[in-house]
Parts: sequence; C-alpha cells; structure tokens
Amino acid sequence: MDKIAILNEYTEAAKLGGGQARIDSQHKKGKLTARERIQLLMDEGTFEEIGMLVKHRSYDFGMEKEQYLGDGVVTGYGKVNGRLVYVFSQDFTVFGGSLSETHAEKICKIMDMAVQNGAPVIGLNDSGGARIQEGVVSLGGYADIFYRNVQSSGVIPQLSAIMGPCAGGAVYSPAITDFILMVENSSYMFVTGPNVVKTVTHETVTSEELGGAITHAEKSGVTHFACANELECIDYLKRLLSYMPQNCEEDAPVYPYEAGNEIRSKLNDIVPENANQPYDIKEVIEEVVDTDSFLEVHKLYAENIVVGFARLAGRSIGIVANQPASMAGVLDINASVKAARFVRFCDAFNIPLLVLVDVPGFLPGTDQEWNGIITNGAKLLFALSEATVPKITVITRKAYGGAYDVMNSKHIGADLNYAWPTAEIAVMGAKGAAEIIFKKQIAEAEDRDAKWKEKELEYMAKFANPYGAAARGFIDEVILPEVTREKLIKAYQMLENKVVKMPKKKHANIPL
Ligand code: HXC
Repeated sequence: MDKIAILNEYTEAAKLGGGQARIDSQHKKGKLTARERIQLLMDEGTFEEIGMLVKHRSYDFGMEKEQYLGDGVVTGYGKVNGRLVYVFSQDFTVFGGSLSETHAEKICKIMDMAVQNGAPVIGLNDSGGARIQEGVVSLGGYADIFYRNVQSSGVIPQLSAIMGPCAGGAVYSPAITDFILMVENSSYMFVTGPNVVKTVTHETVTSEELGGAITHAEKSGVTHFACANELECIDYLKRLLSYMPQNCEEDAPVYPYEAGNEIRSKLNDIVPENANQPYDIKEVIEEVVDTDSFLEVHKLYAENIVVGFARLAGRSIGIVANQPASMAGVLDINASVKAARFVRFCDAFNIPLLVLVDVPGFLPGTDQEWNGIITNGAKLLFALSEATVPKITVITRKAYGGAYDVMNSKHIGADLNYAWPTAEIAVMGAKGAAEIIFKKQIAEAEDRDAKWKEKELEYMAKFANPYGAAARGFIDEVILPEVTREKLIKAYQMLENKVVKMPKKKHANIPL
C-alpha cells in the first residue's frame, strides 16, 4: 500500500474517534465532540495535534482487539485570540473518554510543554473516569496529572471546562486548576455518584442535583462559571484568558484604549443617603472600569462579595467588592474563601487588585463560628496581606471592625486607600457602639430610647465619616465618587513598576 495512503488512512481513522455511531450519540445528547470543541476554541487553522496515533497498551478483557487512534483524548497546541495555549480534549466516543495509562501520558506531555514554554493549559473534560479495564495504571495516570497540576499552579494559568461526566478522583485535577467552568444539564462533578450516595446515606438525588453546574455554582462553589451550553462555555474560556498573562513572569495583555474624559458623575448618586439602604456594588464597578470589561467570577456563589476581572485604561485588574445588596455585604465563611482564592490567583499572575469596601463586619452566629469563620476569614486577611501586586482600596461606605483591617487596609500593605465622603470607618455600627459604651447612662435615663438615640448620633458624628482615618493617614485621600476612575487610572500607572522584596521562606502557611 502506498505509504502516503497509510498515513491518510490513520489520520482519517483518528479523526473519527470511536466511530460515527458514537459521534451521533454524542450529538444527540446535545454535546459536541472533542475535536469540534477544539475547533471552536482555537483561532482558525492554528491547532496542531500532538499524539494523534497513540494507542493504549492494555491486553486484558479483549482490549487488544479494540484500538482507537489517539486513545480517547485529543491533545496539542494552538492560538486563542493570537496567543499560544495548550489543550487536551477528552473524547467521550472512545471508551467514554476514560483515562488510560497512555491517555494520561498524552495529557502530561502537553502539560510539561506548557510549563516549559510558559503558556496556559486548557482541559476540556468529558470522561467516565479511570479506564476500568486498566486498573492501577489508570490511577497512576491520574496522579501523574495531579502532580503536574500542582507543579504548574502559579506558573501558568490552568483552566478546566467540564463538558460531561467528571466523577471519582478525576474531580481533583480540575479542583487544583485555577478556574472551573461547567455546562448546565450535560456536565456533573462528584466524588461519589447518586448510587453510592443512596447506599451510604440513603439520600435520593439525581446527578444534576448532586453535582450539576448550578449546584456547584450556587451551593458548593466548586465551579466558577455555570454556562448555559458548550458554546457559552468556550466563549467564557476565551474571555477569561484575555485578562491573564501567559505565565507568572509576564503581564496580562494591554488592550487598546483611548483616553478621554474619565469623570463619571453617576457614581455620585449610587450610595443612598440612608446607610442601612442597600445598593448594587456592580453599578459602581461598571462605572469605574472600561465599558463592558467586567467579567464576574463565581457570580452565583457567596453573592455578598463580588469578584471578577476588568480592565482599567486597557489593563487587567482583579476586583474584590463587598456587595451591600446581598446580606448587607457582610463577610462570612464562603465570601472570605471565595475572595481569598481570587486574590491569590491575581497575585500569582501579576494582576493588580482593586478592593471596594462597604462591609458591616463578620457575620455573627453559631453556624459561622462552628464552621470556622475564624480560620476561613483569616484566609482573606492572609491572601491580601501576602499579595505583592499593586493593591488599591476604595471605601464607599461602611468599613467596620475587623473587616476594615481585612478589606485591604493600609495596615496590611495596600498601596493607596481612598474613601468617598460617605465612608464610615469605625469599630462597629453606631447603634451597637452606643449600647455598649453608654450602657450605664442609657440604663439610668428616664427615656432610655431617647438616650440611646442621642448617644448613637454622638458616636455617628465622631466616626461615621472618613476624616478620623484620613487624619492618621490610614486613608490617603477622601475623593468625590465621580473622580474614582480618574484617580485609579493614575494610581495604577504610578504603581506599574512596584517591587516588593519578601523575607526568605519556603512557602507561606495560609490557614487552610
Ligand atoms: C472504560 C468506559 C468507562 C470507564 C464509560 N465507558 N466509562 N470504559 N472505563 N470508566 C465506556 C462504556 O463502556 C461505553 O462503551 C462508553 O464508554 C459510553 O458509556 P455509556 O455508559 O454507554 O454512556 P452513558 O450512558 O452516557 O454513561 C456515562 C457514564 C457511565 C455515566 C460515565 O459510562 C459510567 O458510569 N461509567 C463508569 C464510571 C466509573 O465508575 N468510572 C470509574 C470511576 S472511579 P461503548 O463501547 O458501549 O461505547 C475513578 C477513579 C479515578 O474514576 C481515581 C483518580 C484518582
């Protein structure tokens, strides 16, 4: 046979994966194939496949007779918006995308290349888990991937899209990567599936309820994005990448930006007169950052804190903002962990931070205390203290108690701290404060309520403003809301060459 014809035959066979019938079945489930997903992700004509002719080495259970070129995963490199990325895309049409020894080797190969050459890795996961016919070599393959995930963490961005099953120990590779995106109604992640759950805990639950995209977006926070379909998921992958550098030694790409009038007078009217009235901090974010540049991360989880990427004068920033519209913006366990993880990503990849503060404090209660608000709240304190990227704070309203310190205060290394005239920087809210420090006077008063109100107003007059903090230099400037964007653009430019020397250490010990 003509040698060129042989190669063509192999190539055609590899492209068919597990065969047309299985491709049709994949489509019937509303899912794309591994190759179709790569085509959508990569710039046209840029994808170069590596390892197309790899075959498994299994001889048990008649496996030697069932061979598919590529062994259930398409791997290679290409460009997304002109920038190099490595990708692996599991092919559910070949043994359910299950992970064999050789399948794992292919993934490891591109992960190694990605670290060596300093570019992100994207995993498109669609797999029945360990290749059951192979046993321990498959488990070893998973561990080889986990190990590389950890070694690559903080070196190159790693993104995981879950586009089908992801169960058992297989969930831990995505869990170690920087961002997880799940597709609603066609993907799920769990350590043990509904059948095991039924046996062990007698709970009856569907796969979707147990580990679907919405469950993990809202309840567990395992996924950062719940996407309506695969196209949206791939779109999110591309958008996410646009805010990130290729690796920890580089800066994120700068987008074209035309300087103009940076005054945003709408900002003057967002914070309500009444300090107990909520408002949506996302309105503030949208006004401050470049038009339509805000990409919210973890949108449905711990909504009392908002995190996400945006651009300011064309440059990437990471935003952490208390959300007064949800639980008054209080800090609780989930909000602290959500924000801490985001801060650490930004710091690892040289993305400057903007912290918007309107926080009444930490959430009280047995639930929070017994579940460790102490350790978990400390994560955010730790992450912000440890971050060496440019860090700027804007206090829009409340900055009470320990939460004032935690939310990127001057004391923990913020470079510039601004406050709006509406800022209130105090140990606690005026009502509670008056009750404690004027307890005796209130108890002895004829009209206790009137006395309480009087003392509350007295406390407010003293502390419900930013001037005490500004007098001590804890606030660098009290600014009109409308100039916030202008100030921030100048400040980040001023901080562009920030260098921080850290004390020698092996690694820090964040309170996990
Ligand atoms: C080998 C597998 C497989 C697996 C699926 N297939 N999972 N082959 N190893 N793990 C094959 C099926 O035999 C079938 O082959 C094809 O993939 C499609 O599977 P279906 O069952 O027909 O598809 P569907 O109905 O969509 O169900 C998908 C599924 C189910 C829910 C993933 O296949 C399933 O439950 N698989 C087993 C999952 C599992 O227990 N995995 C091991 C988990 S333990 P044909 O030839 O018919 O197309 C684990 C540990 C990891 O992963 C530890 C890491 C540390």
